[in-house]
Amino acid sequence: MTIQTIPTQPFPGQRPGTSGLRKKVRVFQQPGYLENFVQSLFDTLGDCAGQTLVLGGDGRYHNRAAIQTVLRMAAAHGYAKVLVGRGGILSTPALSCVVRKHGALGGIVLSASHNPGGPDGDFGIKYNIGNGGPAPESFTEAVYRRSGAIERYRISDGAAVDLDRLGAARCEQMLVEVIDPVADYAELMRGLFDFAAIRALFGAGFTLCYDGMHAVSGPYAQAILEGELGAPAGSVINAVPLEDFGGGHPDPNPANAGELIARMAAPDAPDFGAASDGDGDRNMIVGRGIAVTPSDSLAILAAQATLAPGYRKGLAGIARSMPTSRAADCVAAALSIPCVETPTGWKFFGNLLDAGLVTLCGEESYGTGSDHVREKDGLWAVLFWLNLLAVRGGSVAALVEAHWARYGRHYYSRHDYEDIDSDVAGALMQALRGQLAQLAGQTLDGYTVALADDFSYTDPVDGSVSSQQGVRLIMTDGARIIYRLSGTGTEGATLRVYLERYEAEPAAHHLPTQQALAGLIAVADRVAGIAARTGRGAPSVTT
Ligand code: G6P
Ligand code: ZN
Repeated sequence: MTIQTIPTQPFPGQRPGTSGLRKKVRVFQQPGYLENFVQSLFDTLGDCAGQTLVLGGDGRYHNRAAIQTVLRMAAAHGYAKVLVGRGGILSTPALSCVVRKHGALGGIVLSASHNPGGPDGDFGIKYNIGNGGPAPESFTEAVYRRSGAIERYRISDGAAVDLDRLGAARCEQMLVEVIDPVADYAELMRGLFDFAAIRALFGAGFTLCYDGMHAVSGPYAQAILEGELGAPAGSVINAVPLEDFGGGHPDPNPANAGELIARMAAPDAPDFGAASDGDGDRNMIVGRGIAVTPSDSLAILAAQATLAPGYRKGLAGIARSMPTSRAADCVAAALSIPCVETPTGWKFFGNLLDAGLVTLCGEESYGTGSDHVREKDGLWAVLFWLNLLAVRGGSVAALVEAHWARYGRHYYSRHDYEDIDSDVAGALMQALRGQLAQLAGQTLDGYTVALADDFSYTDPVDGSVSSQQGVRLIMTDGARIIYRLSGTGTEGATLRVYLERYEAEPAAHHLPTQQALAGLIAVADRVAGIAARTGRGAPSVTT
């Protein structure tokens, strides 16, 4: 076994996006592609000698090969130890948990989250720092700069490690510990939620359907929901992680989790439905005949948080991404705690959580989490909901409606225009920015624009500024239209239009969402010229 130094040349475009470097599997399969990025990462980190790294992925195609490459490179850079999940598996929140618990220098997640997998699908790599959360932009930009100048990488020529056998192995001097991917995470959950109450709920006949979408969260959900909490066997469907996610699109929203939505609409629907994404950090909560919006879910968890043992002391504050609805703001106001508005991307919550400024965080993109780790956490959200239902009784729908009755309802929808030409998308955003000054004060189809801007965020902890984070039109009645381009796609550009309207009156809380937002939808198209510029008469995905 020796450590080799291999000459290489930069690959263009190794710039991490909203959540790590994501490319087609075939791009990652090019000789040296992953190696270059990992070397740039290790160069940016500096001296890793004696440190611990946590490593795991969502089990998608190319995961096992990539894990072996990273192990051999870590060994060449003097890491003392790598903790790797059995089978190369660690959900994103579980990796965050393991990094924190074992005092690792950081962790590498191999995942493209909710993007499809398989040989023609996507792959990705993301670095998390010692707090367990995604590396900040200043760091990922430094990695990107380094990737443009790289000339060699260092790698051991040691044999592949058996990822399926728990226990210790060696690569060069480095200890490789293959760990149970669920154990540390399950222990953390036991400390946060009332497992006895949830067990009693299932004991009393409560039924659940959790859709693992053939992605990473199946084994976690089976071990915790069925194994520990007594949900009937078979409550977790599509539970086995597959390299291509069974051909599905592991993004838990009503559009992709069709099987679950159909089950929840059937006459014999279970009491509670949920789904998670490729790497287990997203969640969707569904009741009989109702899909809870992620924005509402955050607000409801915040309002009821003290019913869960881990949050009995109350919340320091709440944070939400800018396009997430302002439902959480209403709860924060009632609790007299701050609600911080950040750009899209979980990494922006890290500083706020580390500084103790906020306890719960959430995003419209089906992400919810807290200060227990530094990632959003799909199964955590499911356990939180189960804890609330176990303590309060009643149905998901009843809990949501009671929340609206008290705080008002924020009708909310996101319209995605996927895979549009990048130049067209860029020009559309540019044109919007050019109109901002004229838009303020204008009345459009009955909506008067109170504020039109391009969202800019100053991190209250380190003072760093992130600008151009989305064009906002905020109306005098609080309604909002937000436009931004996705930072997670791998093909063309995706325009996201976020629509929100507040309704205080309970008698008006039961309109179909698209109908309730029809006026705003028309304004959004008119202002941005979406149909005219993209040739698309309708969004490709509506959630
Ligand atoms: C990932 C990130 C989230 C982000 C989401 C949507 O899941 O972890 O923090 O909200 O992507 O990003 P996008 O740029 O595609 O809207
Ligand atoms: Zn994810």
